[in-house]
Amino acid sequence: TYVVTDNCIRCKYMDCVEVCPVDCFYEGENMLVINPSECIDCGVCEPECPAEAILPDTESGLEQWLELNAKYSAEWPNLTTKKDAPADADAMRGEENKLEKYFS
Ligand code: SF4
Ligand code: F3S
Repeated sequence: TYVVTDNCIRCKYMDCVEVCPVDCFYEGENMLVINPSECIDCGVCEPECPAEAILPDTESGLEQWLELNAKYSAEWPNLTTKKDAPADADAMRGEENKLEKYFS
């Protein structure tokens, strides 16, 4: 599966949603997550994200993110259409440790 990671938080560009063939993105207040049991590993979302927030879970160190994607995709609503990104998305791009600072 692919997973959404820290860089998405408060950037939430949502370009990923447009390209996913199985509509497996779920929307929280500040970020999106992927449902790992629905993702078919096609990889098309990864290069679409301007914040480079989407990574394959075969990369090391992503266990925490895989858990977070699994947990919240079961709670948050499905999102299939792109909406506007937050007004300060570009300013938030590249900030570190967004999970601790802004996740909700
Ligand atoms: Fe959707 Fe493919 Fe991205 Fe998985 S890898 S979330 S199926 S676009
Ligand atoms: Fe987030 Fe990137 Fe999608 S910022 S909403 S993973 S396009």
